[in-house]
Amino acid sequence: SDATASATVHADRPGPVMSRHVFGQFAEHLGHGIYGGIWVGEGSKIPNDHGYRRDVIAALRAIKVPTVRWPGGCFADEYHWRDGVGPRSKRPVKINTNWGGVNEDNAFGTPEFMGFVERLGAEAYVSANVGSAPPSETAQWVEYMTSPNGSTLAKERAADGHPGPFKVPYLGIGNELWGCGGNMRAEYAADLTNRYATFAKSGSGKMLKIASGPSDSNYEWTDTLMRLSGKNIDGLSLHYYTRPRDVQWNDKGAALGFPESEWASTMAHTLQMEEFVTKHSAIMDKYDPAKKVWLVVDEWGTWYDPAPGSNPGFLVQQNSVRDAVVAGLNLNIFAHHADRVKMAAIAQMVNVLQAMLLTDGAKMIKTPTYWVFDLYLPWMDATTLPIEVKSPWYHKDAVAVPAISASAVRDTAGQVHVALVNLDPNRSIPLSVALAGVSATSVTGRIVTGATMDAHNTFEQPDVVKPVAFTAAQVAGGTLTATIPAKSVVVLDLR
Ligand code: AHR
Repeated sequence: SDATASATVHADRPGPVMSRHVFGQFAEHLGHGIYGGIWVGEGSKIPNDHGYRRDVIAALRAIKVPTVRWPGGCFADEYHWRDGVGPRSKRPVKINTNWGGVNEDNAFGTPEFMGFVERLGAEAYVSANVGSAPPSETAQWVEYMTSPNGSTLAKERAADGHPGPFKVPYLGIGNELWGCGGNMRAEYAADLTNRYATFAKSGSGKMLKIASGPSDSNYEWTDTLMRLSGKNIDGLSLHYYTRPRDVQWNDKGAALGFPESEWASTMAHTLQMEEFVTKHSAIMDKYDPAKKVWLVVDEWGTWYDPAPGSNPGFLVQQNSVRDAVVAGLNLNIFAHHADRVKMAAIAQMVNVLQAMLLTDGAKMIKTPTYWVFDLYLPWMDATTLPIEVKSPWYHKDAVAVPAISASAVRDTAGQVHVALVNLDPNRSIPLSVALAGVSATSVTGRIVTGATMDAHNTFEQPDVVKPVAFTAAQVAGGTLTATIPAKSVVVLDLR
């Protein structure tokens, strides 16, 4: 019937590897993203390891965060790295002009960030200040971080507790240079990108340079940057936020208690990522047919109205089953574009926008989005397998979108996994998947869903939404069959 979906997984024609860096995360000096969320300081009563929250570190380690982008965002283009090195008691207090006008005491600076990524087993993606600092400042920051020894800046780093160089595999050349990073024209941004990239030289190890790219459908920006800077960069960033209402920036829609029409518009808007990635990639192909330059989707996720009673500058929002479905849809899109999308960072890691974790004093909860990242762990560095889906449509008001989204991979140990997202909030959908080139005889799985569209975890009830075993799938005669519940993310593991 028309309410049934079908698909074919082509393990017989494997696609590109999906870099684990697509599961990267963004941590900005914004609200309680870092202070309170990651860093509480050594004197805190909250259990900590040299100032880092133990609960947060353990939760993030469990989902194998590959990369952390820091210190911004908009914060990056007003950040002066010297404010965040040396003895903490001597660091200056600045105003965080982008995010709530609060004091920034710089307790979390470069050594603290590097200690954080080291504890996570992640790699550092440092965003340099292009908007309001000279190129020499970026060059000196890179020297402080990466020069082996001998120079005065290397000695300063040693005095800060790190005789050996830090690893900086990724350097961002400014952030949103078309907006908060300096309101530049694309041509000017391209010139600055070339200039800053020229003088930022790693003293040890490879350092890929990622230019500040477009947001949404700003294809002219991509064309100009690729044309004028394509030879000098290793990556181009893309930012796209999913808002239920995307007409005015100050009216985005609530994170909880929303009508089905806003579930539907959220789905339609988030699926635009497919079009943006496809079209930006096509422009990149024109200048870089060998696909050397990565498309780095280093800000993505939902952006709702601030949680009632919160500081609006802190971008606090709850995270529900809707966010889980959004995460699954975007990860599937990135899997389909694994040839060009080699890195991404969800915005943001803790307490900000579509966060993995929320904290309140000593309490911490894992969000539905966290659990989707947990389900997709086998996708890291796995070989993508083409999957074609014929799906029934979900209709609501003016929205009409395919209900089922899928991606499939063969993991590094050879096992095949299929992710299935049903974005229809009302109907479960029976599905059959032909498995070309997979000899599987059994299937297990896990599901993230909830009773309502906005089911979510709270500090009082932290386990309302979390993965449970999915037993409604069978495999026989080269066909996988399952009924995918409404508003759910399912990952199936074949054996
Ligand atoms: O993630 C919040 C903000 O969104 C970032 O600072 C900025 O880059 C973007 O506009």
